[in-house]
Formats: sequence, structure tokens, C-alpha cells
Amino acid sequence: MFERVSVAPADPILGLNDAYKADPRTDKINLGVGVFKDEQGNTPILKAVKEAERRLVNSETTKGYLSIDGSPEYSQAVQKLLLGEGSPLLASGRVCTTQAPGGTGALRIGAEFLVRQLGIRTIWVSDPTWANHNAVFEAAGLEVKTYRYFDRDTRGLDIDGMLADIAQAGPEHAVVLHGCCHNPSGVDPTIAQWQRIGEVLEKSGAMAFFDFAYQGFGDGLEEDAEGLRMLVERLPDVLIANSFSKNFGLYNERVGALTAVSAKADGAQAVLSQLKVLIRAIYSNPPCHGAAVVSTILNDPDLTAMWHDELAAMRKRINGLRTEFVDGLKARGASQDFSFIAEQRGMFSFSGLNKDQVDTLREKHGIYMVGSGRINIAGIRTENLEKLCRAIADVL
Ligand SMILES: Cc1ncc(COP(=O)(O)O)c(C=O)c1O
Repeated sequence: MFERVSVAPADPILGLNDAYKADPRTDKINLGVGVFKDEQGNTPILKAVKEAERRLVNSETTKGYLSIDGSPEYSQAVQKLLLGEGSPLLASGRVCTTQAPGGTGALRIGAEFLVRQLGIRTIWVSDPTWANHNAVFEAAGLEVKTYRYFDRDTRGLDIDGMLADIAQAGPEHAVVLHGCCHNPSGVDPTIAQWQRIGEVLEKSGAMAFFDFAYQGFGDGLEEDAEGLRMLVERLPDVLIANSFSKNFGLYNERVGALTAVSAKADGAQAVLSQLKVLIRAIYSNPPCHGAAVVSTILNDPDLTAMWHDELAAMRKRINGLRTEFVDGLKARGASQDFSFIAEQRGMFSFSGLNKDQVDTLREKHGIYMVGSGRINIAGIRTENLEKLCRAIADVL
């Protein structure tokens, strides 16, 4: 039977990584896959994570199963981080959280819940969006529609287009919103724009489904959650899929969560019970280690402070690189204005380079980026900035 199976195309982003690895050039540059890199080009394990792991090795007494929704300490810590320490929602009975295998796992469980429990058949994603959104939502049986988001002329947010499009989403639809650090454009709504998004969604009755994969990578843990918190307050029911892959550097531990905020005072219980039914049939119960690390850090003031410092350092590196990159391109006589890159937030930038330019950069200069011109800013190093800027000026 396996003879009938044909070869599937490589994942566009992870496949690019394989091509980079196979390239023999020693001065090659990888701006493709979305992982944080330090100045040495490594993706380090955070010191707070190492310390939490040391403590866990000493204190763990069993490898018995977690419950279907993970550990309660973890869920409570997640809710505080998302909604704020002082949020009245925390003790309201309106919020439930289940641990999930990464942000991807949380998105998939959320999608299954939309289809099976709410009868939702259509989900709206931004144009452009994270490459895996379509596959995750379609796999759950949703039809994916796009709303206008990135304006290729202004290199900013097309807020009027976005609002006009999401106004078409009705109560039987869901709308995916990137909480911060939009992937792939790096363009986020301002607080005033979040307000308008909230107004439109409130009128339309569509379910807001936040994808929150970069909290703390933009302007800070609290600042990055402002839009999300505003909409959670305004809208009756909201879903949030969050990931700790990036902000804790726990990529391969697969740690994230799905949180639901319900309009009903005691609504969380019913929602959580249904999420558990879904999870039981998909992977039964979650892996422990990554969530135990996050929970250990977030439930210890010293480790939390250590993590805050390390997260701030990652954020500073990315935002500093944005400015250096813009200045470098200008100094090398790039024929376009790239100052918008310094305004964008998070790990990614839409460089504005077209497919041919991206191909030339890869073939001629050994510089790898996604075909859309998306750059992982954290892949730049001060030592290769000069080469990168020269090569971009060359292909323009
Ligand atoms: C916007 C967005 N959502 C979700 C994810 C998935 O995160 P995870 O690796 O935790 O599954 C990513 C990862 O790149 C992302 O960029």
C-alpha cells in the first residue's frame, strides 16, 4: 500500500533550514527559521531554565502521568502572565487554561473546540500570517479566509482594510489575532487600533482567537499584552493560544497553553471539561518537563526576576539589531528606505525584498530567508551585518 504514497513537498520554512545546513559556504547567513540567536549565532538555554531544571532533578519523585489539562500551578501562572497579576478575572471562575504541546498544539485544540463545540466553520487569518496557520486550521475542518493586514505600500498596518474584512465575520466565525510581534510582518496594531478592532468584533459577534507566541519580545511582558487584555475585557468570550517556545527558549520541550475566557460567571468549568475530552482523544495528556520548568520559574520570585532580565536582553538584542540593520543598509547606499524595519516588533521583518531578490541572495551570497522576504532579525550578527547589507544593496 505504501507504493501509492507520493513524496510531500518540504515545509517551506523548515525545508529552508535543511538547504542552509547543506550549503558548504562558511560565510552563509541563516535568516529563515524563527528561533532566537545570540551574537555567537547560538540558541542558548536560559540560565533561569537551567536553574529550574537543576531544582527539578533534585525534587522530582515520579514520572507518573499529568492530568489531561496539565498541572494547576502551571495553569495559574499562565493566566497571571496573560491577563496580569492583578486581573479580577483570575478569581472570577470565567477563565480556564489547559497545558498544550507548544503554541501549535494549543491552536489545534482551540480549532477543534471551535468546530466541535461551537459549530464554527470559518476562521479568518491575517494576510499574511504564520505559514502553519492554514494547515492547523484546515486539519481541524475549518475553512480559512484572510483579512487584509499588511499594507505593502506603507509597510504598515492596513487598519481600514482589516476592520472592513473582519466586520464580515459573523457569530459563526472566528478571527485569529496575533497578540504582538506579528509573524511574519513585525507590524502590530497600536492601542487605539486595538480599540477599534474590539469594537468591530463586539458588533460582529465573531470569536476572537489570540495567537500569542512572542509575549515579551516586543516592548515588554506587560506592554505586549495590552491589546489582548483590552479585548478580553471588552468581548464576552475569547480564546488564547500561547507559546513558551520563544520567550523561555523552550522550543523542543513543546510547551504552551490554551486559555478560554468565558462570558458566563462559572463558564470556565464546562469549557475545560470539553477541552479535556478533545485532548484525551488526541494525545491523552501533555508532556511534563517544559511546563514544570516554566511553572518552577514563574512560581519563584528569584527565578522570575532572572527570567525577566534574560528576556529583556533578548528583546534588547533584537531591537538594537533593527536599528543597526537600518543604519547599515543606508551606509551601504541601499536604494530604498528601510527605516520601517526599526519600527517593527518581534523577531521578524518583512524586508520588502521580492522572490527574485531572495533567490539571488541565497544563490549568490549564501543568505537564506523565506521566499516572502521575511527576515529573522535575530539571525543577524554584528560580524556579518556588513556582508548582509552589501548583499542586499547589491540585489536591489
Ligand atoms: C505566530 C506563531 N504562532 C504559533 C507558533 C508555534 O509555536 P510553537 O513552536 O510553540 O508550537 C509560532 C512559532 O513560530 C508562531 O510564530
